[in-house]
Amino acid sequence: MEITDWKNLGFGYLKADYNVRTWHRNGQWGPLEVSDSEHITLPIAATSFHYGQEAFEGLKAFRGQDGKIRVFRMDENAKRMQRSAQGVMMAEVPTSLFTEAIKKVVKLNESLVPPFDSGASLYIRPMLIGAGAQIGVKPADEYLFAVIVMPVGPYFKEGFKPTDLVIYREYDRAAPLGTGKIKVGGNYAASMVAGQRAHQNGFSAVLYLDAREKKYIDECGPANFFAIKGNSYVTPKSESILPSITNMSLRQLASDMGMKVEDRQIPVEELADFDEVGACGTAAVISPIKRIYDADNDLEYNYGTEPGKVCVALYEKLRGIQYGLEPDPYGWTTIIE
Ligand code: PLP
Ligand code: COI
Repeated sequence: MEITDWKNLGFGYLKADYNVRTWHRNGQWGPLEVSDSEHITLPIAATSFHYGQEAFEGLKAFRGQDGKIRVFRMDENAKRMQRSAQGVMMAEVPTSLFTEAIKKVVKLNESLVPPFDSGASLYIRPMLIGAGAQIGVKPADEYLFAVIVMPVGPYFKEGFKPTDLVIYREYDRAAPLGTGKIKVGGNYAASMVAGQRAHQNGFSAVLYLDAREKKYIDECGPANFFAIKGNSYVTPKSESILPSITNMSLRQLASDMGMKVEDRQIPVEELADFDEVGACGTAAVISPIKRIYDADNDLEYNYGTEPGKVCVALYEKLRGIQYGLEPDPYGWTTIIE
């Protein structure tokens, strides 16, 4: 694949030159295979098709001004995929195999890592699926772990320009004791109806409330929610949101900037008290929010049409580490040799 217009890439699927795969059979992982095909062959009764035995990850590689390629916090994605595997009873991918697969697939597709000044990056999508046939509801006896990559631009089309969110109380993305805290495909299928309604009405994502009481802020579409209130970085504590690696990193950076980090329940009415609001995630990076519309009460909360100063500072710090422009004191990045 050859790309010339790096600056106008959106967030979409593109077939890369190579992907890597390995199969778990008879209780063990086989060797990593390199493929140039975008197809896989699976039994028609594979558990991933019928019962959603599937998990995925999302992380990125960045080309620095120094030309080096850095992958961000892949050990954390490895751990999260292990928790997802436990949650839907799949074979776990050891961290060493996970990181070996990522290094290999990024190196193989080196020419697809966008140039430093394009604002784009290489999105890395590991996936783990039940590949064995089963018709009773029980775990497969074979699994496929594969990693695909593609160059991407911003997930929300506005990029770092503020976007709008909407609250609809009639949808839940995940149950309090369900699968919301792991990264399994079913959560995303369950969010499509509400997500499409939001998009049709001009919003970039749904801001979910907690499923039990509809009192507290929960997940923010495909990202975590955070807010700035005075000198505090506030983010929801909930059993049903995905522990975001971006959010974990921002909490550290906010604390390093001298801010107080509050990881707690956030009553929906508190939206009126925030100075800045944002969504964060690998795909979303930091998306500042300018307006949240509570559709059930016809109420709106406004945060200004320009990114707030704390959002800007956090964004610059995070991007600085990812692109190797700033020191990386916690060893978050891995250089692909
Ligand atoms: N929440 C959901 C539902 C997500 O899909 C993602 C994306 O991975 C996130 C939050 C952000 O997580 P991370 O920062 O690890 O990408
Ligand atoms: C990510 O941020 O990596 C995600 O997985 C979000 C979305 C594209 C599903």
